[in-house]
Amino acid sequence: RRIVVIGGGENAEHDVSLATATGVAKALHSGGFDVDELTIERDGTWRRGADALGSRPADSLAGALGVIALADAVFPALHGPLGEDGTLAALCALTHTPLVGSDLRAGAIGMDKWATKLVAEAVGIRTAPGRLVTAGAEVEFESDVVVKPVAAGSSYGVALARDASELREALRVAARFDDRILVEDVVRGREIDVAVLREADGRCWAAPPLEIHTDGPFDTETKYDGSARFSVPADLDDAERDALTGAAVRMFDALGCAGVARVDFFLTADGPVLNEVNTMPGMTAESQVPRMFAAAGVTYEQLVARLVDAAVV
Ligand code: DAL
Ligand code: MG
Repeated sequence: RRIVVIGGGENAEHDVSLATATGVAKALHSGGFDVDELTIERDGTWRRGADALGSRPADSLAGALGVIALADAVFPALHGPLGEDGTLAALCALTHTPLVGSDLRAGAIGMDKWATKLVAEAVGIRTAPGRLVTAGAEVEFESDVVVKPVAAGSSYGVALARDASELREALRVAARFDDRILVEDVVRGREIDVAVLREADGRCWAAPPLEIHTDGPFDTETKYDGSARFSVPADLDDAERDALTGAAVRMFDALGCAGVARVDFFLTADGPVLNEVNTMPGMTAESQVPRMFAAAGVTYEQLVARLVDAAVV
């Protein structure tokens, strides 16, 4: 089978996405698939392997569509806006090409941290109390808050604000990523992530949860500099594990996700608090999701092959 893996993308997570694409392409190769690699450059132009497909986004997309038309499935190894947010899923829907992972609706809602929060609360999953502000709005400092662009990933643009001046600066930085900004209460708890997979037969299951250990904050730097330690499976009692995996699967279903998603929580004394849902989580061999499935006995190669199987049924 011929799989088109798409990496890169026009946002801050470009390099993270390239790493995911490289890992996925390699795993598919070793699984016996024919792999065609497309890359979206930072300026929105597409290339196939090392060859530019055009000098402007629209021209090069025409070339990319020719490649996509030959695919049995597209694996969008894209994180962040203009990729993970449903745009790629829309392109595949319009071309009737099977797509690995979530459709337009789940991708768009999952990329929007405010919409995700509303869905979570509606299905009884707690999230940090927070409010939505527009970039440029004055926000009065009352207590410590976490400031986040509504649509971004890998913690780009996220900051903790402990006084009025940090808050002003955090709002200014977040506004570089999105004109909608989330200002949330700080949640204190263990950071635990859960990976959920929808198999080709429709069965949905969660891998053993993973706990993140860092000395300081788990930010863009510590996400990728190798300093964070993961324990898989996380040390949880049965009730904690059931609460986390149950909430993760409920969230996966509520958004209508497909393929794999990583649902990130804080485990507090009062139970899980949802942080966010990643509909195309980081997926190099060393990333959290493959590690969680490895703990369930599913290798990286098997995981990507199962994702393709689920896409082409
Ligand atoms: N947004 C990053 C890639 C993640 O979810 O792993
Ligand atoms: Mg994310």
